[in-house]
Amino acid sequence: MKIYSKEDLNNYSLSLTYDDISLIPLEISQVKTRNEINTKSTFIGEELTVPIVSSPMDTVTGIEMAKELTNLGCIGILNRFNSTLNEILNNENNLENIKAVSISLTAEEKLIEKLAEKNIIICIDTANANNAFVLKKCEEIKKKYNTRVIVGNIAHGSTLKQLVDSGADAVRIGIGGGSVCTTSVQTGIGIGQVSSLLDVYFTKIENKLNIALIADGGIKSPGDVAKALACGADVVMLGRMLAGTKETPGEVIKYNDQLWKKYRGSASFGVKMKNEFIEGEETLVPYKGAVKNVINGISDGLRSAMSYLNCNSLSDLQKIDSFSVLSTSSYLERLPRK
Ligand code: IMP
Repeated sequence: MKIYSKEDLNNYSLSLTYDDISLIPLEISQVKTRNEINTKSTFIGEELTVPIVSSPMDTVTGIEMAKELTNLGCIGILNRFNSTLNEILNNENNLENIKAVSISLTAEEKLIEKLAEKNIIICIDTANANNAFVLKKCEEIKKKYNTRVIVGNIAHGSTLKQLVDSGADAVRIGIGGGSVCTTSVQTGIGIGQVSSLLDVYFTKIENKLNIALIADGGIKSPGDVAKALACGADVVMLGRMLAGTKETPGEVIKYNDQLWKKYRGSASFGVKMKNEFIEGEETLVPYKGAVKNVINGISDGLRSAMSYLNCNSLSDLQKIDSFSVLSTSSYLERLPRK
């Protein structure tokens, strides 16, 4: 069997995603227990305990989620829908302990000014960062204020230099891979998440570009988190893995004797509520209780992966260069059976 390096994977003829690859431990691990492993990192100036950022979706990140993720050493990016942003403008206390806020291209200057004043990361939340108006907005914000800006999304490194030139501090990588995303079905656009990530990673390395990479969409498990980081992501962005937790906006629903919460795409009908082009779905996910348990589960899985791979730190994990490409049968063999 061939052991693939990141570069080999990047040159692979087909586009790959998380289920197509796995990590291969090649060394004797010097790690005694996973508890001694450190998952701390710095992401665009923020100290993180676990490299997790929440999706700025209306069923994932409201004020409660953002504050709790800050407590847990992660970043919650407040969604730009409903009344969340008004709540911020009307009550500055709501900005305490919040690390990032998403805005639309048409956001009011008053809001941007307030976020910049408080040194809160601004995420320009669009479906496609390869767009002149997105770049212009990023450039305007960066010229006017001393603040950090996240842009997104891209599926390939071809325009990374332009994003960096517009002043972007971080970029969300992934088009078509989100679990409630219908972009690829509706438009035919997008590539597998691993291939997207690797292409952007190598573009960054080869051109010595200074921008942080966010693996966004399609992450289903702690194992996928480990794979994304090993493919060069600085942090992962999670929608579905955090959906259904206590801290997400929305009610707990009882249906068929089980508890559920709503999870929907930012471009779903439920969010738009008008007859526009729809690129997202709406669904119910099982109620999961406190988000702290989900984050702890991911942290445990990640540290366990790192102990197999003899990695003491996230920067060691990002240097991993031994992957396999799985046949469908070997992928299925990896799943538990009843
Ligand atoms: P998940 O973690 O696989 O559920 O993916 C979450 C990601 O899906 C988000 O961070 C967005 O990048 C993306 N996304 C959210 N809403 C939509 C939508 O309506 N259409 C397409 N992509 C979406």
